[in-house]
Amino acid sequence: MTAEQAPSTSGVPTLALDPYGRDHQGEAATLRGLGPVVRVQLPGDVEAWSVTRHDLLNQLVMDPRISKDWHNWGAMERGEIPDDWPLIGMVKVTNMVTADGAEHRRLRKLVSQTFTARRVEDLRPGTEEIVANLLDALPSHADQDGTVDLRKHFAYPVPMQVISDLFGIPDHERPELREAVDKIFRSDLSPEVVGANQIAVYQLLARVVELRGKERGDDLTSALISAREAEPDALTQEELVGTLLVMLSAGHETTLSLIVNAVRALLTHPDQLALTRGEEDMWPAVVEETLRWEAPIGNFPFRYPTEDIEVAGITIPKGDPIMAPYSAVGRDAQQHGPDAGSFDIAREQARHLAFGHGAHACLGAPLARLEGTIALRELFARYPDMILGAVPGTLEPVPSMFSNSVTTLPVRLGRPAS
Ligand code: HEM
Repeated sequence: MTAEQAPSTSGVPTLALDPYGRDHQGEAATLRGLGPVVRVQLPGDVEAWSVTRHDLLNQLVMDPRISKDWHNWGAMERGEIPDDWPLIGMVKVTNMVTADGAEHRRLRKLVSQTFTARRVEDLRPGTEEIVANLLDALPSHADQDGTVDLRKHFAYPVPMQVISDLFGIPDHERPELREAVDKIFRSDLSPEVVGANQIAVYQLLARVVELRGKERGDDLTSALISAREAEPDALTQEELVGTLLVMLSAGHETTLSLIVNAVRALLTHPDQLALTRGEEDMWPAVVEETLRWEAPIGNFPFRYPTEDIEVAGITIPKGDPIMAPYSAVGRDAQQHGPDAGSFDIAREQARHLAFGHGAHACLGAPLARLEGTIALRELFARYPDMILGAVPGTLEPVPSMFSNSVTTLPVRLGRPAS
């Protein structure tokens, strides 16, 4: 046992999580090995709990004694968490992600009413067109050595273009939006830059709301504005802008990571890639297996018990933060079998938690599945001989304990299918 895994005062083992996410799966395996309930150490000497078993986390997120509201974090209320704490931007926010009960239902309702399964299905032809255009352009992005960064030129723009179209973001605002959304997920920026970015992105989205208020289109921003007009108490103007920001930021980095992680998994498991050849029906299974095996959100902060609770015989005190370790539970052998560590697209899928569960389950899961399935199916149909352009272990992880992916994905496309 290393110093980082020494028992804490409460007798529960503690693991210091790497803020740069250099080894999500190694860390996830250590967490599972330390037990069902573990203390995790975060930057700034802040400690939290992590519940590392699928069934326990599943119960926890459904437990009515669990809050997502940061006002219920004891240390925050006692003024012990400074405003420049590096993870503050992920925690001290006010939107549906950090709301409970009736307030949460109010904030979520307008989006779930307008962002229906039908509307997602309507995005299919547009998504196919976006994907086809990006695939056409891929060879033009090849370096001198013939490699193309698939993250930059494919996985990144697919969800960005889909979501910008969905929300009716005008073309001239898109470059600035792209830059601002990127900064939201960086963990290496100063508090000043983070603050300035927050203001810039709110201003940008307020401009979009103003424009769509005057010129309605067939987009979700227009639909939300109309829904708000029909039910003015449902959402304030500021909350509407905040909702757009949550959807844009939650819907981009995650979906891009799903595409990157799936391509990486398939190119390093040729036997699995072979199972998809000529089998269109396999693509949803590739998406689900990637979500389970390489969860795009490796860890997600926080939930807070509103009274002392017991999990696996361990008391988690009222007001302590609990992290959801989606990487760790995705490979929990109790849920996914003794071969949970293998990437196997033909496995009998047990339910995974990569989209969360319960009242806060991901609102964009149907869209993410649609985008992932189309992007992967069309990519491998167009470039059937594609191979990885780098040694697998040398790819740089995204420097984040939350986002689980790599910063570049060099590939050699090979000859396009005719
Ligand atoms: C592969 C892609 C995605 C993954 C892995 C993912 C994962 C998740 C997870 C794990 C949560 C719950 C976090 C928790 O409470 O512990 C969540 C919530 C959420 N997701 Fe996603 N997501 C994805 C794509 C999207 C997309 C495309 C959108 C929108 C267009 C979206 C919008 C949201 C929103 C609004 C919430 C908050 C729901 C609430 O608190 O009520 N997500 N997502």
